[in-house]
Amino acid sequence: MSDLTTLEQDLLTQVQAAGDEAALEAVRVAALGKKGAVSDLLKTLGSMTPEERKERGPLINGLRDRVQASITERREELADAALTRRLEEERVDVTLPIQEGPETRGRIHPISQVVDELTAIFADMGFAVAEGPDIETDYYNFTALNFPIGHPAREMHDTFFLAPNRNGERKVLRTHTSPVQIRTMKATEPPIRVICPGRTYRHDSDQTHTPMFHQVEGLVIDRHANIAHMKWVLEEFCKAFFEVDQVKMRFRPSFFPFTEPSAEVDIQCSRRGGEIRFGEGEDWLEILGCGMVHPNVLRNCGLDPDEVQGFAWGMGIDRIAMLKYGMPDLRPFFEADTRWLNHYGFRPLDIPSLVGGLSA
Ligand code: DAH
Repeated sequence: MSDLTTLEQDLLTQVQAAGDEAALEAVRVAALGKKGAVSDLLKTLGSMTPEERKERGPLINGLRDRVQASITERREELADAALTRRLEEERVDVTLPIQEGPETRGRIHPISQVVDELTAIFADMGFAVAEGPDIETDYYNFTALNFPIGHPAREMHDTFFLAPNRNGERKVLRTHTSPVQIRTMKATEPPIRVICPGRTYRHDSDQTHTPMFHQVEGLVIDRHANIAHMKWVLEEFCKAFFEVDQVKMRFRPSFFPFTEPSAEVDIQCSRRGGEIRFGEGEDWLEILGCGMVHPNVLRNCGLDPDEVQGFAWGMGIDRIAMLKYGMPDLRPFFEADTRWLNHYGFRPLDIPSLVGGLSA
C-alpha cells in the first residue's frame, strides 16, 4: 500500500507547489492525463483478479478522486490570487478629478456665447436670423437708410472707407448692422421678424470702443407693429438675457435718420460695490437705439408706408456682454490672449438655450 500513499503524497505536494495555471496543468497531465501516473494505475485494474480489483479498485479510485479534488481546489486558489493581484495592480482612484479631454479644453469666446444666447431668446419670440456683408456700399450703409448725401449724421459714424473702384465708388466697412434691414426688406415680403447679429466697424478706440465691434439689429414689419410691441419685445429680451424677473427701462427721445420717432433705451442698474446689477438701483445705462421705421426707408425698399409699418433697434453686443459677465475692458476681447479666454470663455458644450439655461 505504501506505493499508493507515497504516490499520493508526492502528487499532492506537487499540486501545492504549482505556482501558476501552467505548472498546475503540467502536474495534472503527469498524474491524470492519458499517460499519467494515476491513469497508468487505473489501467492495471483490467488485468487483476476480481478479488484484487475489489481491494485495489477503491484505493486507486480514491487516490484519483483526491488528487483531482486537490487540483480543482488549487486551481481556484490560483485564480483567486491572480484576480487579487490584478485588482491591486489596476486599482482606480475614483476620487481623482477626471482628466479633461481635448473637446472640453477649448473655450468659446464670450461674444460668440452672447450671440448664441440672444439668438435663442429672439428665436423663442419668433425671430429669424438675417445676415449681410461686412463690406457694404454707401447706398446700403447710408443712402437707403435715409441719410441724405452730405447729411451730418454720416460724419458721426467715423466710417472706414475702402479705396474707390473704377467707377469712383467707395465701399465702406459697415458702420452698423442697419444695412441688413434694407437687404431683408428688399428680399422678403412682410410680415418680417428678423434679428441681424454681426460685426461693425468705426474709427474709434478706447476702453469701451474698438475699431471692430458687434451689434444686433432687430426688425419687425407688418400691418400693425407699433411702439408698444417694440417696448414689450425689448423688455422681454432684457429680462431673459440678464436673467432677472424685473427690468426698468427708460426710453429717451433721440434721433436716427432711419426711424421716426426714435429713442435710446437705458436700463436701470445699481453700481454699488463696483459691481453692476440689473433690476435694482438708481443708475441708468444705455444699451440700444430704436424707433419706428421711417416711411422713406420703407419706400426705399419698395414697401408702401400706408400698407405696412414696423419698428427696429440696434444694440451693442459687446456692451451687453461686458455688463452681463462683468468684463470691465473691451480691448482684451480682440487680443486673443488665451489666459483671458480661459478665464472669461465658455465651455464648448455649454450651448445656451431657454430650457437648458442661458449661461451655465
Ligand atoms: N444703427 C444705429 C447705430 O449704430 C443703432 C440703431 C438705432 C439701429 C435705431 C436701429 C434703430 O435699427 O432703429 O447707432
